[in-house]
Amino acid sequence: MRAWTLATALTVILAAPAWAGAPVGGWVFDSSPDFPGFTRLVVAEKAGKVSGTITSTWYGDLPLTDPRVEGDTLIFKLYNGNPRVTMTDIVIAPEGKSVRMTGKVWYQDFAITAHKGSTTELKSLDFPTYPLPDKRVVPQKSLAPVPPMGWSSWNKFATDIDDTTIRQIADALVSSGLRDAGYIYVNIDDGWQGKRDANGVLHPNEHFPDMKALADYVHARGLKLGLYSGPGPKTCAGYEGSYGHVAQDAKTFAEWGVDYLKYDLCSGEAFYNTAETVYANYQEMGEALNATGRDIVYSLCQYGRFDVGAWGRDVGGHLWRTTGDIEDTYAKMSSIGFDKNGVPNHTGPNGWNDPDMLEVGNGGMTHDEYRTHMSLWALLAAPLILGNDVRDMTPETVALLTNREVIAVDQDPLGAQGLPVKKDGAAEIWVKPLSDGKAVGLFNRGETPLTITGTWTELGISGASVRDLWTGAETSAGDGFRYVIPPHGAILVKVK
Ligand code: GLA
Repeated sequence: MRAWTLATALTVILAAPAWAGAPVGGWVFDSSPDFPGFTRLVVAEKAGKVSGTITSTWYGDLPLTDPRVEGDTLIFKLYNGNPRVTMTDIVIAPEGKSVRMTGKVWYQDFAITAHKGSTTELKSLDFPTYPLPDKRVVPQKSLAPVPPMGWSSWNKFATDIDDTTIRQIADALVSSGLRDAGYIYVNIDDGWQGKRDANGVLHPNEHFPDMKALADYVHARGLKLGLYSGPGPKTCAGYEGSYGHVAQDAKTFAEWGVDYLKYDLCSGEAFYNTAETVYANYQEMGEALNATGRDIVYSLCQYGRFDVGAWGRDVGGHLWRTTGDIEDTYAKMSSIGFDKNGVPNHTGPNGWNDPDMLEVGNGGMTHDEYRTHMSLWALLAAPLILGNDVRDMTPETVALLTNREVIAVDQDPLGAQGLPVKKDGAAEIWVKPLSDGKAVGLFNRGETPLTITGTWTELGISGASVRDLWTGAETSAGDGFRYVIPPHGAILVKVK
């Protein structure tokens, strides 16, 4: 598709007989919604067969999928590379000397017009393409022997972020005890980016006057700074991505003092939508990060596609998302945590399945549900990236997030991912091997209280003592167990 250049298009157009009223030719959009930022449409017809591309600032050139002519309208679909998006009909009809395009891409409806573009005008809208590197294995640095712990701006603040807030968050991580509990990365997610200068150097936007000074501030508090970008022209929130500037951006991030990069596929999905090209674009940033000489944890965010856990380490990655985005609801959290946590044997020191960031403390779940969230993430050896406003936490939230023994389950040096050993209706029992025993989670996924009884030996667990990590209660393993678990609740114990 990308080899289909404007030059070939124009040759075909000039050679092609136009059908009555149909939009053969090159068109320039008069306006467009920011997403997907339509700029140009080129339609050709050869021997009755219509083809063409539509260009957008998010996706570059996309081929018109299944184009067909009906009367004087052209109907097609657009595939933006995202398998979750259902393609719908897009219709182009003549309107005087212009054409009108109506339809929907993903969530965006549009009804916009385009005028016949001059050759110069059409050419000026050429979208640059860049070669991907040959396949290589990127030497992986040992920067995440245990799952990374920290905080990220996204779940609570989305793009409503600025330098002052991030400094206050850094201070609060220290004063609340969260830093000392292990949460050391302060990750600025999407929304910090400004524009590129004439040399292509990316600058932060006006909310972040001096990224280096911010990194210094964070570092001075014994914390590390994380930043966010992606391989496409646009990030998921529509900010500048690293497309065409991968090495340059890695260098900029390193110069600022960045210690962690979340690299989010977003609009890159349209460009890199095969296993090979996705590998190559993550490899490209992995190599660029290594080339800076700075230690930067590399977080791959491509929603678990293309079996990322099988090759995440090979592109230099330290963690990789296993799913789409979490939400602050029990339904979403539990469906990810119980059912979409990645291939267990892909997880281990320096490479972690990432079921997405925590929602604990954001208010959308009950205390029992947040306890389930925390217990599950610990059993999964998931990265523990806080997603709440740590400047303003209830004592219950602090207790959930700073329980040293629960954190130790997550951070166990063995790096094993816990697995379900028993499912029975609403009851699930999960076991995670630890370097000094076993962690066991007993969950009630149902809507009414549930009593779970049994013996440890029938779960394949031998041990003398059982410690409830949330209450601190100690029992003897020989006694077996009987727990009454509230709806959506959890018990987390360690058997030694
Ligand atoms: C995607 C990611 C999220 C977040 C947003 C930012 O949706 O999966 O975690 O980074 O982009 O726009």
